[in-house]
Amino acid sequence: MRIDVLTLFPEMFEGPFKASIIGRAVEAGAVEIHVHNFRECARDKHHTVDDAPFGGGPGMVLKPEPIFDAVEKVRSGGGQRGPLIYLTPKGRQFTQSMARDLSSLDGFILLCGRYEGVDQRVIDHLVDLELSIGDYVLSGGEPAALVVADAVVRLLPGALGDEASTLEESFSDGLLEYPHYTRPAVYRDFEVPPVLVSGNHEAIRQWRKEQSINITNSRRPDLVRRTHTLEARNENG
Ligand SMILES: C[S@@+](CC[C@H](N)C(=O)[O-])C[C@H]1O[C@@H](n2cnc3c(N)ncnc32)[C@H](O)[C@@H]1O
Repeated sequence: MRIDVLTLFPEMFEGPFKASIIGRAVEAGAVEIHVHNFRECARDKHHTVDDAPFGGGPGMVLKPEPIFDAVEKVRSGGGQRGPLIYLTPKGRQFTQSMARDLSSLDGFILLCGRYEGVDQRVIDHLVDLELSIGDYVLSGGEPAALVVADAVVRLLPGALGDEASTLEESFSDGLLEYPHYTRPAVYRDFEVPPVLVSGNHEAIRQWRKEQSINITNSRRPDLVRRTHTLEARNENG
């Protein structure tokens, strides 16, 4: 897979893309990540990328020319044919199932906004998908691009030590994950649930399922409703 990131702050990606699971996936060749500063595509000698909004109002808007040029350069340079994704609070809410869909692509481009965002013509004529990472406003798209890249890269074959861990975790079956415990079995008089040290694999499986259902019902009843609706839809064809 190849991920290209278009940003005005490439330095924000230096640490996160080198460390931990993403860093390992890059080293193992599971993913190539290229970070581009689209200021380099600005056409004037001051490298201007923003301007005041037509119609007035506060803040600045990212100009279309540097972004169109940067995307065209990426697409012609690296053979990147994947979708252009703009990170924006106005986008569709990013979910685990979108992360799975994106992880099956050969690649995609992440565009990070700043200031009031990008000129609407970028969205109308260049962007394939607008994604939000939640109902709050960040000062730039960079943390959102990191969230999307991380959620996708960890699903690539070879990125995690144990692939099975992505099959049982939260959201993979529409439920939140059960609680985990590790050694010691008793710490400060706090005991782990006895079933987990019983050696009875079927009882452990049952307990975990119940815990998943209970925690999802109490914290995210919307997920349970959504799963039921999808199951009903699948059953009815
Ligand atoms: C200050 S925000 C602009 C907010 C915009 N004026 C609005 O009200 O919708 C600057 C940039 O941060 C990014 N951003 C902010 N919040 C985000 C979120 N929840 N999800 C994804 N990107 C976000 C976008 O790229 C956006 O262009």
